[in-house]
Amino acid sequence: GKVAVLMGGKAAEREISLRSGKAVTEALQAQGIDAHGLDVKSIDDLQEVAKEYDRAFIALHGRWGEDGVVQAVLEDLDVPFTGSPMAPSAIAMDKLRTKWMWLGAGLPTPKFVRVSEKMPLDLTAFDLDFPVIVKPCHEGSSIGMRKVYNLQELQEAVEYAQQFDHEILIEQWITGKEYTGGVLNGEALPLIRLQTPRDFYDYEAKYRSNDTQYICPCGLDEEVESALQTLVLQAFDVIGSKGWGRVDLMVDEQGQPWLIELNSVPGMTDHSLVPMAARAKGISFEELVHEILAATLE
Ligand code: DAL
Ligand code: MG
Repeated sequence: GKVAVLMGGKAAEREISLRSGKAVTEALQAQGIDAHGLDVKSIDDLQEVAKEYDRAFIALHGRWGEDGVVQAVLEDLDVPFTGSPMAPSAIAMDKLRTKWMWLGAGLPTPKFVRVSEKMPLDLTAFDLDFPVIVKPCHEGSSIGMRKVYNLQELQEAVEYAQQFDHEILIEQWITGKEYTGGVLNGEALPLIRLQTPRDFYDYEAKYRSNDTQYICPCGLDEEVESALQTLVLQAFDVIGSKGWGRVDLMVDEQGQPWLIELNSVPGMTDHSLVPMAARAKGISFEELVHEILAATLE
């Protein structure tokens, strides 16, 4: 049948989504699948998709496309689609509620506080120490985020993040190593270690910089990596996520892992991590895209 690759959208990550969608469309077409990349921005566009297509590959990042709205509409229109259903998509797009759910399930995530109007920015009251990282709750690709070392920077970072979101979170910075774990149809992909000379793995480091290092195999002992992969799968399951996704985590200097966030539509660009992890397992980009799509037939 005909496959609509949904891309673009209206989130801050639109440019990344166009790159993901193009790569996915080309990989499906190369396998003889009747796939079409569609820049979608409205519910009307999704209704058109329902009329003309049999299935949808969601390559939308961020709000509207990754946060459950598109998923809800497609569920209502009976169009099978890739990845997580509405509710887990909505939770995963929300960094605060993801962390509360993980905590509720006994999974480790760095200490944090939700910024509220009346709150004094006194970190000691919340058992946090500088540096901390300030994040808009519902963004992706590190948009609106800043790592800060003192009160002055913290105040500025909160104001900056508020330009992107009505809810802001201040999270303990974990000193250690950063990893990401892809999930594909119930299995954890090999972990990738990310190393950047920048202050943290920000938008520049993700998409523009050439000095970001992606280390895969990630250099951990097999048992340690496999324990982290189990944690990744638990983190994914607790949210109710399905199909594919990517869990970001840190490991501190004592070897303790800390879950950072869950991406339910991770990047699929040439710089992206899930394709890299799949390749390390002998799964080509084409096979990866095929596997993600195949899950919509089950
Ligand atoms: N939010 C970006 C696209 C990622 O997770 O890869
Ligand atoms: Mg993200």
